[in-house]
Amino acid sequence: MAGGERFRDTVAVVVGGASGIGAAVVVQLVAEGCTAVYIADIDGVSASAVAVSNPRAHYAEVDVRDAGAVDSFFADVLAAEGRIDIVVHAAGVDDPRAKAAMHEAREAGAPLDIFRTLDHDQWSRVMRINLDGTFHVLQAAVRAMHPARSGAIVVIGSSAAFDTLAGYGHYAASKAGVHALAQSVAKEVAGLGIRVNVIAPGPVDTPMAARTPDSVRKQMAASGAIGYASAEELAANILFLASPASSNVVGAVLLSNGGRFTV
Ligand SMILES: NC(=O)c1ccc[n+]([C@@H]2O[C@H](COP(=O)([O-])OP(=O)(O)OC[C@H]3O[C@@H](n4cnc5c(N)ncnc54)[C@H](O)[C@@H]3O)[C@@H](O)[C@H]2O)c1
Repeated sequence: MAGGERFRDTVAVVVGGASGIGAAVVVQLVAEGCTAVYIADIDGVSASAVAVSNPRAHYAEVDVRDAGAVDSFFADVLAAEGRIDIVVHAAGVDDPRAKAAMHEAREAGAPLDIFRTLDHDQWSRVMRINLDGTFHVLQAAVRAMHPARSGAIVVIGSSAAFDTLAGYGHYAASKAGVHALAQSVAKEVAGLGIRVNVIAPGPVDTPMAARTPDSVRKQMAASGAIGYASAEELAANILFLASPASSNVVGAVLLSNGGRFTV
């Protein structure tokens, strides 16, 4: 991890900061001098634990599906701090049911048959949290940064949007939507001094990955040149995109996937 004070005198928001990649971002932002780091997460208990163990970190229980709740969280941070310099949006979900079906098919040596029976609840859960949630967070972040005409926003997409897994199209679609939305917004707000970028991880060892059935994990690990990354490696990439060192990087989708594929 890079040391120093890159984020001295900055106020950051980390949505999804209670676990995995988001929690690693909180730790690194605090270590690099952030004045305050505000965590928003649906899991208030874990968010509180991360806030307690990191100085200058605060938390609120927020569901990114709820636009009003996201807006009022950003309003509370603005009221407390007067500005928001960095927003990292790391909240998202996978689909354990689809992953379990992949695992069962692999164990049985049977062909995949997931899409045919994918139900609307599976589709809409992933779309509402991953894509609607990104819309809500991006809009709130841009609104919060607009008066100061400065800020950096990083959202987490996925390599799965490019290298789609069979049986997992709904997750891939949600992340492809995240990439396209963030890239369009990036072009629109660059002239306002706000930079938006995307990080697209390959497999990362987080609590989300730990819930992935073993045979699917092995398939994912074997798909890249390196295998699973750590949450800290991804956080370091995200801090680069949030820092002035990436001032000319706008609307990028930065692949951090250990060589799973290249574009
Ligand atoms: N782990 C991987 O292999 C991997 C690969 C590619 C992309 N990603 C993406 O990275 C991001 C972070 O994933 P992670 O692996 O750290 O997972 P994680 O499960 O450890 O963390 C995700 C966080 O999002 C929060 N969250 C979930 N639904 C929410 C909601 N409705 N409102 C607010 N918060 C909510 C969770 O409570 C959790 O704290 C996700 O967008 C995920 O899709 C992960």
